[in-house]
Amino acid sequence: MPLHEERPGGWEDILSAPERERAAAFTAEVGRVRYVRTRFALRRILGGLLGVEPAAVAIDLDPGGKPVLADGALEFNHAHTDGLALVAVARGTPVGIDVEREGRRSDFRAIAARFFASQERVFLEQEETEERFLQLWTRKEAVLKAAGTGLAGGMETFCVASRDGWHDGLVFEERGYVVRDIAVPEGYRAALAVLAAEREVR
Ligand SMILES: CC(C)(COP(=O)(O)OP(=O)(O)OC[C@H]1O[C@@H](n2cnc3c(N)ncnc32)[C@H](O)[C@@H]1OP(=O)(O)O)[C@@H](O)C(=O)NCCC(=O)NCCS
Repeated sequence: MPLHEERPGGWEDILSAPERERAAAFTAEVGRVRYVRTRFALRRILGGLLGVEPAAVAIDLDPGGKPVLADGALEFNHAHTDGLALVAVARGTPVGIDVEREGRRSDFRAIAARFFASQERVFLEQEETEERFLQLWTRKEAVLKAAGTGLAGGMETFCVASRDGWHDGLVFEERGYVVRDIAVPEGYRAALAVLAAEREVR
């Protein structure tokens, strides 16, 4: 969903106390609005699927820091960047999603050197652009967010580059996760990962 520049009306009645505290802790309004808008939408989406009021959706953190439903009724993940947030929901299988905005990573080569697997670095050399870097980055981050580890799970320990070229919408299995690029407005890159055993993803 697009992220507008104002906090949505009624947000304080919908977010939980820890979420309101976190919102209050942002030093920059832009970060606060992004956080509040994303949580607001997330609660409305999950509440709609669960048949409860958005404020009644019980969100916990798992040990790796991934937000999860307290009763595990649905799996979900979300990501936000400048102007855009994405929410993924799955039933009975972990899901991870990432979105990044282009035009911000002039240092992408150094990041790739540090965080990408060797096969990915070789692959990126064929078409060394920020867009291609973000294509790989979002796939990797989606896998690590599905696993619930975040970046601590080891970016360099697996490979999301396909041997036969750059395919938008590519689907392949890595670490047991189905990973695919997803369509987002121009100027963004996004990817989704879901544990391969079950594939009901919205
Ligand atoms: C969690 C992490 C993957 C998020 O990446 P990001 O690009 O900054 O942010 P995204 O928009 O993609 O995702 C943010 C959302 O991920 C979710 N998230 C947080 N921890 C998560 C985890 N361990 N697994 C899955 N999802 C997680 C939250 O819902 C968060 O939304 P919120 O900020 O509204 O609560 C990343 O920040 C991370 O691994 N952090 C922990 C380690 C760290 O800080 N390293 C410093 C850089 S090396």
